[in-house]
Amino acid sequence: MVTRHRLGCESLVVLGIGGSALGSIALQTALSPPFHNAMPTAKRRGPKLFVMDNVDPVQFGGLLDRLGPALRKTKFNVISKSGETAETAAQFLIVREMLRKKLGSKAPSRQIIVTTDARSGTLREIVEKDGYDALEVPDGVGGRFSVLSAVGLFPAGMCGVDLTRLLGGATEMSERAAARSVRKNPAAMLALLLHAFYVRGKRLHVMMSYSYQLKDVTDWYRQLWAESLGKQVDTEGRPVVVGPTPIKALGVTDQHSQVQLYREGPNDKVFIFLEVERFGSDVKIPRGAGVPEALAYLQGASLAELLNAEKLATEYALAESGRPSLTIRFPRINAATVGQFIMLWEAATTIMGGLLNINPYDQPAVQTGKDMTYALMGRGGFQKRSAKVERFAKRRGKFVV
Ligand code: PA5
Repeated sequence: MVTRHRLGCESLVVLGIGGSALGSIALQTALSPPFHNAMPTAKRRGPKLFVMDNVDPVQFGGLLDRLGPALRKTKFNVISKSGETAETAAQFLIVREMLRKKLGSKAPSRQIIVTTDARSGTLREIVEKDGYDALEVPDGVGGRFSVLSAVGLFPAGMCGVDLTRLLGGATEMSERAAARSVRKNPAAMLALLLHAFYVRGKRLHVMMSYSYQLKDVTDWYRQLWAESLGKQVDTEGRPVVVGPTPIKALGVTDQHSQVQLYREGPNDKVFIFLEVERFGSDVKIPRGAGVPEALAYLQGASLAELLNAEKLATEYALAESGRPSLTIRFPRINAATVGQFIMLWEAATTIMGGLLNINPYDQPAVQTGKDMTYALMGRGGFQKRSAKVERFAKRRGKFVV
């Protein structure tokens, strides 16, 4: 499927949300060169990638305007496991109509690839009826655990990510995560540590990356940890109300924004640092005349050295304030290590779910918001509920800016 659609493809637009989008964004930032979309076609390993995980009209309209003359060379990957999600459905309808109008009635089936459940959902019905190319989300794999299925692999493959190495890294980690001995099982070790902190009141789990390439991996983790572990009943249906709150942070940027709170605010956090031993490239700070005495210490050092020194300094500063942290170290960032990292957290999430005695694979609390959106937008079978939201809207207080 990748080989067929890559040929002549200038831009790939992913339409999806939550688990259907965050994995692709994470893989792209980690494994494609920085500023990938700004590179000339000949230098890129694949098409430009745009992941549209929102229905903001200015953002979405802006993208459609930008595609303009390049529309003919654009592929759209519509991703929705349920095939029912309102945001993705709205985007799909807009894009399909635009393709029909601008490029003719056959354009949607040439340019849209759908990733959805193999059998159920409205999107699957459309695929069957209109004959789009389609990929399957495997049975039993929820959105936030789906980055290593067609959901994440198709966009990554299109953009030139080495899928064999990515899956190789993930397989290696899944074997380690099956070890019975905790000492040999990094996922169990991670879950046990974070659970031990959680029960001792460290309920905010801050993942702080000291690599720009890993900054969107922290966003992916945030969804995985939050949606899987924030639950009000245990596996027997008894009330429990549990769940660590995941927070993402970026070093060094957030040192100048969050670290004051992290050191002197409530001691309710555990920090998970992401560190890189060898960056793919480095930038030297020049020596030479004209460097003031006060800045001489920087001469001849590199940005990688500075970044990692700042990480260690921050780790130290937090420890000095009695704030616990752990570090996950990447020898290098590549498809294999990113695959390992993804599988590490997917396994750790499952184990953490077991330790909290909750089901990490459902997300019942997300449904009310979805149903009320359907009601407000007039979906058949949901209209009666709209009165409730409308009454609520009248009563609530408002700040107007
Ligand atoms: O992890 C999840 O299950 C969710 O975040 C979903 O991915 C998200 O709600 C989108 O659902 P769908 O893929 O069915 O459109």
